Amino acid sequence: MAAAHTQDTMRLPAELLYQQEIEVLKKEDKGDVPPGWQMSPRAVLTYITGGKAGKLDITPKYIGNRRLVEMAIATLVTDRALLLIGEPGTAKSWLSENLAAAVSGNSGLVVQGTAGTSEEQVRYSWNYAMLLANGPTPEALVRSPIMRAMEGGSVARFEEISRCASEVQDALISILSEKTVSVPELGNETSARKGFSIIATANTRDRGVNEMSAALKRRFNIIVLPAPSDLETELSIVKKRVSEIAASYELKASPPADEALLKVVTIFRELRSGMTLDRKEKLKSPAGVISTAEAISLLTNSMALAASFGSGEMTDEDLAAGLQGAIVKDDDKDKLVWKEYLDNVMKKRGSEWRGLYQACREMNE
Ligand SMILES: Nc1ncnc2c1ncn2[C@@H]1O[C@H](COP(=O)(O)OP(=O)(O)OP(=O)(O)O)[C@@H](O)[C@H]1O
Ligand SMILES: [Mg+2]
Repeated sequence: MAAAHTQDTMRLPAELLYQQEIEVLKKEDKGDVPPGWQMSPRAVLTYITGGKAGKLDITPKYIGNRRLVEMAIATLVTDRALLLIGEPGTAKSWLSENLAAAVSGNSGLVVQGTAGTSEEQVRYSWNYAMLLANGPTPEALVRSPIMRAMEGGSVARFEEISRCASEVQDALISILSEKTVSVPELGNETSARKGFSIIATANTRDRGVNEMSAALKRRFNIIVLPAPSDLETELSIVKKRVSEIAASYELKASPPADEALLKVVTIFRELRSGMTLDRKEKLKSPAGVISTAEAISLLTNSMALAASFGSGEMTDEDLAAGLQGAIVKDDDKDKLVWKEYLDNVMKKRGSEWRGLYQACREMNE
């Protein structure tokens, strides 16, 4: 069952958002296409890291270590599954969605892992009305996204896998090792077609990848996505994603000035590492996560403020409101950490920071 997407869809899946890029990449593809894939591994790499397909510019989706992306793609060529782990907001979900879009043309076969995820959501369940009326029939079978990916030879995604109970993780072990799901009620089984794989994501801050069973971990190639290594990389990620997201919301505000971007990313990097960028001063870090993703959403929120209630130009007040929300979550301690940062670092930074300092100081009263 394909989901219906129109111009009004709130968020387009990657395969529709970048439909033209995918089409051209397929057309210009000169590499060998693995069975069940829609393009060669090299074309997938270009799709993810950016480049050219014929005359068309392919925008980079994941910005960072290219080698990691190559390893991720190479994993999908084999029959091993891929597990992307890392701190929150390091683009695990985003990379997994885009890999599925490029390899299979469908990023929508997703199981969302929670403490309440059941084995049925990983394997199959029944349409109970039909089951009661006619007994177990193929029509009454409700296939999980994973089972549908097996049938179609495509990539399924499993988000936040480490949050699932161990029975659910065990169900996955058998799927990954046998590559079949048997349905005893119907006396048959579904075997995976070539092209089937699973990309799972897990967050190292949550209950923990360490609690995943060793048997399950062994079935995955694990790739750790790091936080952006330097200021320039993080700036380019934030700049690119903010303009893309603002465009999709049709926000009538100017994109943040480079100066505002630089300030936000500087503040985030310093608070995250517990040290000023020049490494001269130690700082306290807030308890919450201050990831690249948070910087992106803070800036789009500030743009929304400026567009809806301001002149359309983001002001220091708009930015201060965003920073306050991102850095001071619910913790009184964060308020203190932020105050110390403001007074010990930002205040001493000279005139370009003056306006933002005052706006933040007022917000944090
Ligand atoms: N290296 C990067 N390249 C491109 N985009 C990035 C990068 N790092 C973060 N982002 C952006 O950050 C946003 C959030 O990423 P995503 O939701 O995939 O994070 P996540 O690792 O799945 O986080 P969580 O652990 O909270 O689920 C996305 O818009 C993504 O584009
Ligand atoms: Mg995620």
